[in-house]
Amino acid sequence: MYLTREEEKILDGEYGEVKEKMFRILVTIGDIYDADRMIEISSTQISGVSYKSIGDFGLEFLEDLADKGAEVSVPSYLNPAGIDTKIWRELGFPEDFAEKQMRIINAFKKMGVYTTLTCTPYLIGNLPRFSEHIAWAESSAVSFANSVIGARTNRESGISALASAICGVTPNYGLHIKENRKPDILIEVDADLKDISDFGVLGYVLGKMIKNRIPYIRGVKSANVDQLKALGAAMAATGSIALYHIEGITPEADDFDIRGLERLKLDERDVREVRERFSREEIDAVMIGCPHASLNEIREISEIVKGKRLKKTLWIFTSRFTKELSYELGYGKIIEGSGGKIVSDTCMVVSPIESMGFRVIGVNSGKAANYLPTLCKCKVVLGSIKELIEMIT
Ligand code: F3S
Repeated sequence: MYLTREEEKILDGEYGEVKEKMFRILVTIGDIYDADRMIEISSTQISGVSYKSIGDFGLEFLEDLADKGAEVSVPSYLNPAGIDTKIWRELGFPEDFAEKQMRIINAFKKMGVYTTLTCTPYLIGNLPRFSEHIAWAESSAVSFANSVIGARTNRESGISALASAICGVTPNYGLHIKENRKPDILIEVDADLKDISDFGVLGYVLGKMIKNRIPYIRGVKSANVDQLKALGAAMAATGSIALYHIEGITPEADDFDIRGLERLKLDERDVREVRERFSREEIDAVMIGCPHASLNEIREISEIVKGKRLKKTLWIFTSRFTKELSYELGYGKIIEGSGGKIVSDTCMVVSPIESMGFRVIGVNSGKAANYLPTLCKCKVVLGSIKELIEMIT
């Protein structure tokens, strides 16, 4: 890979041990993927924040890095952690877990990372423009940035995103290069997609079917931002799809010649079959907000629960910013009045819900449905928000 003189100096250690180490990680990745050079990026989104995912080893690594003076050089945003940093005690999160989690967040803060603690940074001000190069890590955020915005990022790991945050560059390969963004399979959808959970199920099926390919989807007549984030999140979870195109909807869909692509059809039956595969047991809790809920989703939930008294736990995961706004607008109070909670900074997958007594969880998210059984040892009931709220009213 071609390196500039400045970059050679970084590798020679002229800018200190931390930068050298981090840059070496990027060079190694670049060599593996045959990158021709480094390119500048405008922002990073860093995963690997929850103590549940990175443990003591990760905590010590980050504290050591921060103590050695590591500092980010581009706007860098943090993925959800394992606790709500304000009301973890009230929600019953374990004390020692919370203490270690706060140390992780503080280490990132010391490095200059914005402690946004959300997987939807694009909803709270980190909105890249079309074709901008970025280095994002959380898979649903990566999918959204590539597909819906048309920005360019590979699916980074927590460590490669942090290395890019510190060095301000990423190796030029994969989805940073236009021709690699070409769809390689045509998906014809013949199903009535209305609810967010319908999009989650479609993403769930597609990910399982096509793994890491780039689909060109035909037949989706309309989709709003919340539906697209649910679709991309599920596809990225059951497959590892980092980019999709939808005819007439996503910005790069018209840029490629799709003649001759392999075709696959998906209809109502495929979607129904997946829904039926999930548990029908009685649920202990409803958990919404994977990816983190938008203000619109929170408003819709507040309209559904208004005047009701919920018999079981309802947690809605979102960013702190969106939570505060939803309280200012009165939605938070309505949800609390019904017995529900808006929980920020974390989510049902990266928090330790398995050690908090939850066993069967109702979700409207294809991604959460995929991860809860393995990462949280919980059974899943998959439904629309309305259906789920009915189950606990
Ligand atoms: Fe976000 Fe957690 Fe889902 S990080 S996409 S809410 S698993």
